[in-house]
Amino acid sequence: MTTVTDVIAVEQEHLLQVYRRGSVVFERGRGCRLFDANGRSYLDLISGVGVASLGHAHPGLAAAIADQAQQLLHTSNLFFHPLQGELATRLSSLSGLPRAFFCNSGAEAVEASLKFARRYWHTQGQPRSGFVAFERSFHGRTMGALSVTWDDHYRGPFKPLIPDVTFVAPDDIDGLRTAVTERTAAVIVEPLQGEGGIRPIGGDMARAINAACENTGALIIADEVQCGLGRTGRPFYSPVVGLQPDLMAIGKSLGAGVPIAATLFSERVAAAAAFGDHGSTYGGNLLACRAALVFLEELVDGGLMSHVARVGAHTEARLHELAVRHPFIREIRGAGLMWGLDLDRPAAPIVDAAIQQGLLVNRTAETVIRLLPPYIITAEEIDEGIGLLDAALIAAFGGQQR
Ligand SMILES: Cc1ncc(COP(=O)(O)O)c(C=O)c1O
Repeated sequence: MTTVTDVIAVEQEHLLQVYRRGSVVFERGRGCRLFDANGRSYLDLISGVGVASLGHAHPGLAAAIADQAQQLLHTSNLFFHPLQGELATRLSSLSGLPRAFFCNSGAEAVEASLKFARRYWHTQGQPRSGFVAFERSFHGRTMGALSVTWDDHYRGPFKPLIPDVTFVAPDDIDGLRTAVTERTAAVIVEPLQGEGGIRPIGGDMARAINAACENTGALIIADEVQCGLGRTGRPFYSPVVGLQPDLMAIGKSLGAGVPIAATLFSERVAAAAAFGDHGSTYGGNLLACRAALVFLEELVDGGLMSHVARVGAHTEARLHELAVRHPFIREIRGAGLMWGLDLDRPAAPIVDAAIQQGLLVNRTAETVIRLLPPYIITAEEIDEGIGLLDAALIAAFGGQQR
């Protein structure tokens, strides 16, 4: 049997050391549970950072992947296959944005959004290079996406990044109005910030972005990689806050574990693209599209989005009860099945304490415990998870509950 020590030893010798992992080795999963090499079960409230939307070893997804593997996995974008158009049609009816470009990760979806915002202005014959982004934003690790990501911890070692990016505080409406000018190609915003600590932008800020972009012509890029595609119990979070995007980046839950992401475009922006402008070898291959189609069928036709809304409301109520018991939880933020518990202290000890309890959660923005459970989670599993989290909070910060 492979032990945790063996796995760590071989990784330490041969892997680039960029991940600080929890000390557990997973071998299999089922529904909302993962099992380690000793057969111990863990309730998964993070779903591989918001990716395993259908849980683990979903029978319908597993069958579709196996079936697709026996037909055809990949042909590249040199040729047609039937699934990209089918998937783009479904995404278009869900988002109202009529065109899609498929890629493999959220960062790539953001990268394409930035490129095509500039492409749009290039085609207008008035090139614009500027981007306006927000403090606490996270858009990914490639050079372009990193350039609009706020935290200097991620950016510092890789400078110089792309120039002409202005960061605005999410509550600074005057700052936003000043920052967006006729040199701004686009404003990029997560309508519900994820890595930044599960923070929705306010309706006032969303309206200010719409107005500033209307006045200057700047485009709006919504990064819905984490909060989109039913995660909040709604198809996307932009309409919830009143944001009207021209481009949208999506990923994470789309492939339910198979890597696929997409940039969605308004017709006006898409019209600026020309053959050869952009591309991806793997992007939108048959395997990835097939998985995404299974996910969307479950989400829309299978009623999963309404399930997220229902279980999400239950989760919210239970989290508020938990906060009453633990005064060091200073705020609960989120929607649907995307929640942050903001503590008055570093949240890191909770991650290990939760693992000890057989629970998987994550820490973000130093003080925030983040929950992104699979969409299929039941109210009973949420209750179980909150019970385990309660025990982990007591174990980590013992004796502080009311
Ligand atoms: C809002 C947002 N955008 C982009 C990304 C980058 O996605 P990926 O890690 O798939 O490149 C993330 C990842 O956490 C994200 O939360």
